[in-house]
Amino acid sequence: MAADIATGFAWWQWGVVYQVYPRSFQDSNGDGIGDLPGITARLDYLVNLGVDAIWISPIFSSPMADFGYDVSDYCGIYPPFGTLDDFDRLTVAAHERGLKVILDFVPNHTSDQHPWFIESRSSRDNPKRDWYIWRDPKPDGSPPSNWVSEFGGPAWTFDEATGQFYYHAYLKEQPDLNWRNPLVRDAMLQVLRFWFKRGVDGFRVDAIHHLFEDEKLRDNPPNPDWRKGMSPARSVIRAYTMDQPEVHEAIAAMRRIADGFGDRAMIGEAYLPFDRLMAYYGVDLTGFHLPFNFHLLSTPWNPTAIAALIDAYEAALPPGAWPNWVLGNHDRSRVASRLGREQAPIAAMLLLTLRGTPTIYQGEELGLTDVPIPPERVQDPWEKNVPGLGLGRDPVRIPMPWDSSANAGFTTGEPWLPIGTSNASAHVVGQTGDPASMLSLYRSLLALRRSKPALSVGTYVPVAASDGILAYERRHADRRLLIALNFGAEPQPLEIGGSPNGPLLSTYLDQVQPTTASSLMLRPHEGVVIEIS
Ligand code: GLC
Repeated sequence: MAADIATGFAWWQWGVVYQVYPRSFQDSNGDGIGDLPGITARLDYLVNLGVDAIWISPIFSSPMADFGYDVSDYCGIYPPFGTLDDFDRLTVAAHERGLKVILDFVPNHTSDQHPWFIESRSSRDNPKRDWYIWRDPKPDGSPPSNWVSEFGGPAWTFDEATGQFYYHAYLKEQPDLNWRNPLVRDAMLQVLRFWFKRGVDGFRVDAIHHLFEDEKLRDNPPNPDWRKGMSPARSVIRAYTMDQPEVHEAIAAMRRIADGFGDRAMIGEAYLPFDRLMAYYGVDLTGFHLPFNFHLLSTPWNPTAIAALIDAYEAALPPGAWPNWVLGNHDRSRVASRLGREQAPIAAMLLLTLRGTPTIYQGEELGLTDVPIPPERVQDPWEKNVPGLGLGRDPVRIPMPWDSSANAGFTTGEPWLPIGTSNASAHVVGQTGDPASMLSLYRSLLALRRSKPALSVGTYVPVAASDGILAYERRHADRRLLIALNFGAEPQPLEIGGSPNGPLLSTYLDQVQPTTASSLMLRPHEGVVIEIS
């Protein structure tokens, strides 16, 4: 597609990534759990939506203690999701449709059921002992350091049989691998080769900022800003358990594998401030192609804060580094719940018109809200460990609503999470037939982005940020597109610096705005893209 756009740019630069949460996308066999044949059956939906790549959250063999982020065989498929043949069929079908396939790579930890860990814990002198992080208790029998698990509780678990603690940044069922051991590193790099050879176009690398911990096991300092009600993991500042210098060599090694296969993309999950995030592009850009930029998830939702965020990000990018933006994922509250339903259309327009590769989380294109989960249906181990703090991620992982049938076309069985009623009118079939729906807006935005290189690869030029409006231009060759977003509930006048060729697109999805006036009145919560010359 878009050969003119692609000139001089890679697919992971001009393309749009769509995150599929496989357990909740489409069930094909009635067991209430999404699967690979289900994804294959829905590829045409994604093609019609207009995305370019799918990132599929973990599909590998797993006891599912953390829903696939606890892998027991990196080269096997979790049987309820299907088989390797199903995966190959999915990849072929995606490629036939011009879609790239990105898998999740979980290098920081395995499942405690992985054969490596079973061997490792079997005795102190097992050859795989050093594949994980085992340490003696302190003289008083307490854990080796004060490190706290991301999911609450100590990050060290005592193993009675061998008398040592092992470290786990997340659940005790997710022991951390010891990346200082070259055998671990080689075995994990081998996993990348296995999937690249099968035709995978890239990886989203999980929890990369946790890959190394301080060798001296120094205690993390207490966090003075921590209050009761916040995640227990934030009670300390993760000075010695996150973002350690050795991580960059490991990323460079992953990248070399990817480069060996050509035209592949490596994306890294690291929740870090910009000054530290930029190092994840690597020395001379030999690290991740795209270290995820999660800052839109936490920046106050107003034009001045967002304009300042964009400026700070653009200024921090190393020369030649390609930007990216994330508005949601399987771990974070949905846009319509976090920001309010009325903000969702301009949020979509922002995400798809900023300079940088956007990632859309499944269901955002329907404007879904978080679905409350009754206590007896809770699945997420985080919610189970530290209940009631609002940390549970089930509300954003509910099955994809495809139609108005009993289980929303997701399954003929009992869905693993309730579909809920709060999104009853938001499903693909209903929104496909509605020219003013969120789905229609996403389709229009994605089509516009594809047809206007200024939107995908153009430069970013700030125009205005006031209490009400955020405005910026995207420029490419002699084309200029003005994007203006009204964050408020009041109409806002917009001066158009240049001769407008009419709004190309309004979030209202109508044509009522004048086409040539030098100013226009933005309606409440309206966003527009206007071509100017
Ligand atoms: C990442 C994943 C999250 C998972 C965690 C542990 O943050 O996005 O879902 O629980 O890593 O692997």
